[in-house]
Amino acid sequence: MARILITSAIPYINGIKHLGNLVGSQLPADLYARYMRQRGHEVMFLCATDEHGTPAELAAAKAGKPVDEFCAEMHAVQSEIAAGFRLSFDKFGRSSSPQNHRLTQQFAARLDQAGLIEEVSEKQVYSNADGRFLPDRYIEGTCPNCGYDKARGDQCENCTKQLDPTDLIDARSAISGSTDLEVRETKHLYLKQSQMRGKLTEWIDTKTDWPILTTSIARKWLNDGDGLQDRGITRDLDWGVPVQKGDDPWPGMEGKVFYVWFDAPIEYIACAAEWAEEKGLDDAAWQRWWRTDKGADDVRYVQFMGKDNVPFHTLSFPTTIMGANSVGQEEWKLVDYIKAFNYLNYDGGQFSTSQGRGIFMDQALSILPADYWRWWLLSHAPEGSDAEFTWENFQSSINKDLADVLGNFVSRVTKFCRSKFSEAVPEGGSYGPDEEKLIADLTTRIRAYEGHMEAIEVRKAAAELRAIWVLGNEYLQATAPWTAFKTDPDRAAAVIRLSLNLIRVYAVLSRPFIPDAAAELLAAMQTDDDSWPTDLATALDALPAGHGFSVPKVTFAKITDDQRDDWQARFAGKRD
Ligand code: MF3
Ligand code: ZN
Repeated sequence: MARILITSAIPYINGIKHLGNLVGSQLPADLYARYMRQRGHEVMFLCATDEHGTPAELAAAKAGKPVDEFCAEMHAVQSEIAAGFRLSFDKFGRSSSPQNHRLTQQFAARLDQAGLIEEVSEKQVYSNADGRFLPDRYIEGTCPNCGYDKARGDQCENCTKQLDPTDLIDARSAISGSTDLEVRETKHLYLKQSQMRGKLTEWIDTKTDWPILTTSIARKWLNDGDGLQDRGITRDLDWGVPVQKGDDPWPGMEGKVFYVWFDAPIEYIACAAEWAEEKGLDDAAWQRWWRTDKGADDVRYVQFMGKDNVPFHTLSFPTTIMGANSVGQEEWKLVDYIKAFNYLNYDGGQFSTSQGRGIFMDQALSILPADYWRWWLLSHAPEGSDAEFTWENFQSSINKDLADVLGNFVSRVTKFCRSKFSEAVPEGGSYGPDEEKLIADLTTRIRAYEGHMEAIEVRKAAAELRAIWVLGNEYLQATAPWTAFKTDPDRAAAVIRLSLNLIRVYAVLSRPFIPDAAAELLAAMQTDDDSWPTDLATALDALPAGHGFSVPKVTFAKITDDQRDDWQARFAGKRD
């Protein structure tokens, strides 16, 4: 039994996420966590809301609420939606937690001790009308690179160029629109990432088993002269983790907070501390996941994220961890494996939070149960390249895979048994070459499925699972119990006995993908036996003759053309 720490990139608090966000981190992380738990490993699966920075402040202002209140409300909303998608976090924390405040301040103090922090006097835009500095998204203007007139102080959304607020042409305040701006000197802390180039390169070079998507992004930034620039890790904002050196004040930094990208990944650690607090456990309980000097040396740490997050997880956060560790006080766990995803597009364009384009998590759950979305999204995960959601593809995948293949097998077997035998596993007959072949074929596929799940090859795992379902239908087709019943009812009984047992095995194997349907199937088979089919022949004996079952109600309903057209029209426009 291994110990596996799993984190999903923590979603910004500023709004409800769309399905592209979901499939880029939380959902595949959940798939992996569920699978590993089912295989008997000890899993700690953590996620949280990313609550600091200008996106949070601006969204709160737009909602007309104090930012702390806004964040508390949105955290509750996001938690509920996560539960709706059956995301099985051990803890869904908050980056604004007291635990994260303390840890962020402690990491900053260690980095300072390690000589990795520099105080820099820099020029920032100050708004006279607003009486404040305008960092990042608080300022808008024309992009010097492409001329887009709504570029933000941190980045141009149009051409993706990273910007500094002082780069913008015709800059204006995003709060008041005021153009009465001036450039003022202000002091900030910089993290000297560039000093870590050697260590980071060496570390990335050892990661030969990582997906190319992850290492190629990391290498690009490491080798490109601009990529590993020293970065400001503080901001002139009110909302955030106050800049302190551990528990002590940081002279000259009064009134400033850490930059959101500095404190957000530290929340991965703080979240475990929040988990321990919620469970009434001591520090040792969470430190055994995170501190290699306190028992975490045998933990395997796997991170999930979209590709835009890779630089922060391969360069910035490792700098924080390695830098803090170099002082020789605590030893924090570095990530062992990073699984990154490309983007999911929506019906010929992009999902867009700012334009309200695509399907958002709450809307998805309001039209169909979580399993339908989980299955489509995971079986089309944007792994090798970007993927695209279209309503036609969604309809046909759901109808074929879930309704025609899995659902149909379950309904044919249980209904036939009820009508010809009873609502119990039938007795009589014996297994022969058909069953031997089925068991051999299934065993090969189940081992392949396990391999893909271990390797986090999400699409391949889904394809294998589907093939496992298909084998059941082919077996029914070949053995035709409805025909056999007329001449040799014992033969039909044997086929149905095996098939009912196969439903239980399907429930167990499918659970990481479609947990609700799996629970329904186990309930219909009237069993709590959810043991993994390590030996399939034995697993197919779990429900003995005479064991009662009930015919499940429609496990998966087909999506009609009318529904499809209706939804397509409904989601084409802008979300209000
Ligand atoms: N909130 C960020 C995003 O949605 C992800 C933060 S991940 C962490 O892109 F590492 F900072 F935690
Ligand atoms: Zn631009």
